[in-house]
Amino acid sequence: MKSAPWWKEATIYQIYPRSFFDSNGDGEGDLPGVTSQLDYVKNLGVDAIWLSPFYTSPNKDGGYDVANPRDVDPRFGNLDDAKELIAQAHKRNLRVIADIVPNHFSDQHEWFQAALKAGRGSKERERFHFYDANEDGTPPNNWISLFGGPSWTQVADGQFYLHLFDSSQPDLNWENPEVNADFEKTLRFWIDLGVDGFRIDVAHGLVKEDVLTNHPDPQGLSNALRLDVAMDSEVRNALLLTVPYFDRQGVHEIYRKWRKLFDSYGEREIMAVAEAWVHPPVNATRYVRADELHQVFNFDLLTAEFDSKVLFDVVERSISLNATVNALPTWALSNHDSPRVASRIGEEQARALALFVFGLPGSAYVFAGQELGLPDGQLQDSDRQDPTFLRTNGQIKGRDGARVPLPWSGNTTPFGFSTGKPWLPISQSWKDLTVESELADPKSSLHLYRNALELRKEFLVGAGGITWLESSQHGHKSDSLLSYSRGAITVVMNLSDSAVECDADGRLLIVSGGTVDARDGKKVIPARSTAWFLT
Ligand code: NOJ
Repeated sequence: MKSAPWWKEATIYQIYPRSFFDSNGDGEGDLPGVTSQLDYVKNLGVDAIWLSPFYTSPNKDGGYDVANPRDVDPRFGNLDDAKELIAQAHKRNLRVIADIVPNHFSDQHEWFQAALKAGRGSKERERFHFYDANEDGTPPNNWISLFGGPSWTQVADGQFYLHLFDSSQPDLNWENPEVNADFEKTLRFWIDLGVDGFRIDVAHGLVKEDVLTNHPDPQGLSNALRLDVAMDSEVRNALLLTVPYFDRQGVHEIYRKWRKLFDSYGEREIMAVAEAWVHPPVNATRYVRADELHQVFNFDLLTAEFDSKVLFDVVERSISLNATVNALPTWALSNHDSPRVASRIGEEQARALALFVFGLPGSAYVFAGQELGLPDGQLQDSDRQDPTFLRTNGQIKGRDGARVPLPWSGNTTPFGFSTGKPWLPISQSWKDLTVESELADPKSSLHLYRNALELRKEFLVGAGGITWLESSQHGHKSDSLLSYSRGAITVVMNLSDSAVECDADGRLLIVSGGTVDARDGKKVIPARSTAWFLT
C-alpha cells in the first residue's frame, strides 16, 4: 500500500529568516544562519521548514515585496547558500517549503520599472492594474489598502496603480498570461533547486473583479478585514461577503494549472499550502479540492479565545468542512502576522493549547520561537518597521512584536542571535527563554514541544479521526474540560483555573504543566493544562 504523502500530517516549522540566526553579525538573520541551526530544528521533531521570503527585496514589507523572485537578497546570502540550506535540510530528512508571493511584486521589480517608463497604454503596464484618474482627479475607485490609506498610488503621468498592500507592492494583473507564465517559471526554478513545496501568499487575492467600481463602505470593509480592529461579528461577516478583490472564482483556475505543474514532478510529492483568509469558512475548502492545492491555512486558532465552546466549534468545523473535500485541516497558533499565542492567551494556556492541537488530525504549523513560549517583544515606536504602523501614522502598532529575533544562548541580550545589533531589540527579560536555558530545564516549553512531537509521531500521525468524549466530566458539554480520543490516545484539556477530576483511562504520557494526580480511581488534571493518556 502506498504510504500517505509526506505533507499529509506533517509538523511544519515556520522560520522568519531575518529573525532566526545571524551568521555574519549584521544584526539580521540569514540563510547560512538557518543552515547552522538545522540540528536544533531537526531535534524539535518537525518534518519540514517553511521559510518566509528571502528573495531580492527592498524590504518594505519584510520581504513580501519581491523585486526578483528567482534570486536571494544579499542580506540573506546568495543562491549557493539557498542550495546548501536545502541540501543540509534534506540530509536531515527535513523538507523545505518556500514562500511565493504571486499577488504583487515590489515596485523595484524590473517589470514595474519598465511599466513606469513605458507609459500609459503600453503592454508593460498591462502586467499591473494601471488606470487613468477619474475626471475629478481622484483614484479609479475608493478601495482602502489592507495596510491603511488608499489602494491606489499615482505615477508621474497621472495614471494610478492598484496596491492592496503597501504602495511599494503593486498588484499583478492575473488576466495577463505573461504573469502566470512568469510564476510557473519561478515555481520550476525553486523546485529544480530542491524545494519540496510552497506557501502561497495572499492565495485568495490574485483575481480582482469590479476594479473600477466603488465599494459602498470601503472603511468598514478595510476594518472587517483587519483582525486587530474590534467589530460586531454579524457586521463583520456581512461585510466580508462583499470583498471584490478576494476569493473570486478565477483563482481556482490558476491553482488547477499549478497542481498539474506540481504533479508533473511525480514522486517528489511537491505540495502547496494556501494563505487564504476567506469568508464564509466553507470557501476555504475549495482551495483543497482534489485538483487544486494540498493544504489551506486555518487561521481560527490565531484569534480563538481559550474557551471550551469556542475551541470545540473551531476544531469540529475545521475537521468536518475539510472532510467534505477529503482533506485534513491545518492548525496554527502563531505566525509572523499575528500576536504570539503566549501573549494572547497566557503562557500556561498556550502550552495546553499546543498539546491539545498536536493530537488532532492534519498538519500542525509551529512559528519559530513558539516552542520556547516566547511572548511578543515589547517595542518602542521608534523600533517599529511594519508598513502597517507607518501607513496608519502609528494608530495600528503592526506585527513587529511577533518578529523579534530568537534568543539562543547566554545571559545577556541579544542572546547569541547576532554579534551585532539585532534589527529589533531583544528584551533582557528573555534570559530564561533562551534555547540554552530551556534545554537545561526539563520542564521548559521547549522540552514539552520536543516530547509532544515525538509522541505525536509515534501514536497519532495516521491514527484517523477523533471522537469527542462527552461524559459529564469531560467533553464539550463541560466548561472546564475538553477531551477527545484518537487511536490509542485520550487527550484531556482543563481550561479552568482549578484542578479538575476526570475519568480518562490509561497511562499518563505527557502533561503540559503541573502534575496529574490520581484520586479515587480518577485523574486530576491541573489548571490550564492538557494531558495525554495511552490506553
Ligand atoms: C501575508 C503575509 O503573511 C504578510 O506578512 C504580508 O504583509 C502580506 N501577505 C502581503 O504580502
